[in-house]
Amino acid sequence: MQTTKFKSKIKPLFNLAVINKECTRTVAVASTDTKTENLKPWKEIPGPSSLPIIGQLHHFMFGGVFSNTEDPEVFSKLIKGYGPIIRLDSMFGKAPMIFLSDPESVAFVLRSENWFPNRPGFQSLEYYRKDYKKSKGIKINATGLISDQGEVWKEFRSTVNPVMLQPKTIKLYATVLDEVAQDMIVRMRANRDENNMITKDFDKEMNLWALESIATVALGCRLNCFERNLPADSPEWQLIQCVHDLFTIMNEIDFKPNLWRFFSTPLYKRAMNLYERHENLTKYFIKKGKDNLKNKSDNEKGVLEKLLEINEETAHIMASDMLLAGVDTAANTVIATLYLLAKHPDKQAKLREEIMSNSERRPYLRACIKESLRLKPVVSGNARKSSKTYNILGYEVPKDVDIIFAHQAMSVTEENYPRANEYIPERWLASKDDPLYYGNTHPFVYAPFGFGARSCIGRRIAELEMDTFVARLIENFQVEWFGPPPKTVQQALNYIKGPYNFVFNDVK
Ligand code: HEM
Repeated sequence: MQTTKFKSKIKPLFNLAVINKECTRTVAVASTDTKTENLKPWKEIPGPSSLPIIGQLHHFMFGGVFSNTEDPEVFSKLIKGYGPIIRLDSMFGKAPMIFLSDPESVAFVLRSENWFPNRPGFQSLEYYRKDYKKSKGIKINATGLISDQGEVWKEFRSTVNPVMLQPKTIKLYATVLDEVAQDMIVRMRANRDENNMITKDFDKEMNLWALESIATVALGCRLNCFERNLPADSPEWQLIQCVHDLFTIMNEIDFKPNLWRFFSTPLYKRAMNLYERHENLTKYFIKKGKDNLKNKSDNEKGVLEKLLEINEETAHIMASDMLLAGVDTAANTVIATLYLLAKHPDKQAKLREEIMSNSERRPYLRACIKESLRLKPVVSGNARKSSKTYNILGYEVPKDVDIIFAHQAMSVTEENYPRANEYIPERWLASKDDPLYYGNTHPFVYAPFGFGARSCIGRRIAELEMDTFVARLIENFQVEWFGPPPKTVQQALNYIKGPYNFVFNDVK
């Protein structure tokens, strides 16, 4: 294991074997034999200053360090100011937080929390599915992988893992995803203007591709999103807008201090309406999927059909979550990859050569997308709620703290990657004696799909979708970019914003 190369700066307060035993019984582990007297207290963890009554709230206001959380550099700036551990106290019912950018501490927490990993951050979705619906007389057992925790999450995850993560099962979708990719190329050709550009709503076009792809896998049927005359108020376009609006509102309501946890604010009402709309739209698509169920062979069956054979509620929730988590994520990663390849024509040419060779193995393609996810990840960090007291870098971090891992910020420092800000897909393929070799980096720096038992369930599907589509794009188009780089806006997800100055010339 590479981790042995790194000096541990973090000490467990518990024996891990004991923790795991405890976890099976109680999930949370009570502190018993801790040496907390030697640790520096929570309040001494560096962080923005506190005022009486309002605490650190003023830092979220005009001019404060958190006033522009949309700036993707915000975490890097915070780390420069405060160091590898930064404290944010509880505010308006939002749990206290720390931001961690010390890879060894990140590794320790992620590994210690891997039994029943609790990922905070999607409280409004959980509230909608559990409490809001209950108030309307609808009771459900699970809220889904994104928001459930503990035993309920574990049972759900064990049910869907074999259907969604086995490479053998995912490979079955290769042909249909390639059909989607090729149809999208046809649509892009038709949408280009006289300069070979697609200036109007290029991001939405990529979302349309992502929706068609994920729906094909989730529902086992084509939605036909690429129909030329798809009305602007069609369920497909409505779903795309709804998913985008949901991620935008989650950023306000879940990731920032907000009074909705105490009373019904206008933002809360809007969020509940959006969740309801998303649910109704996904019901419409699930019905479409169910109408297409008849007599399919295993390589035509979607996730919905496979899960319906196990549990109907799980099948519906999973299909709905795929149509939530699988659209903007994949679309933005493709936009990032296209931009980086457009800016690096030599890498693009190398990739095209690999694609044109028709070899079944495409390591450079994988490396190009991995490198995009390092420089322009769609998710800037990850999180776990502490289930016990930790000693992190000599500070006492109590139970029930939201620990945020600053993966994006860690991934672009020279300390972790040589030539950190350059797009070098080769680093993922370099041999051990090459200074660029990725294995020289601490393995917990880069984690675009998260970690362990709770890592992204859609990872393999997303990788297959993106590999297939990027290969078709580069096979067909010489992609160029002109003008200044696009702006990235950090919300619940990172969005690359227009104007999209791509030129898609035909490959001769
Ligand atoms: C580029 C594409 C994607 C990226 C970068 C991404 C990233 C992530 C990350 C960082 C997590 C949190 C993992 C953790 O807590 O350790 C996650 C969770 C999740 N993702 Fe993705 N994701 C992508 C695509 C997808 C797709 C296509 C789907 C749909 C199948 C999906 C469904 C989910 C779900 C349901 C979870 C929650 C898993 C759980 O908590 O058990 N994601 N994703």
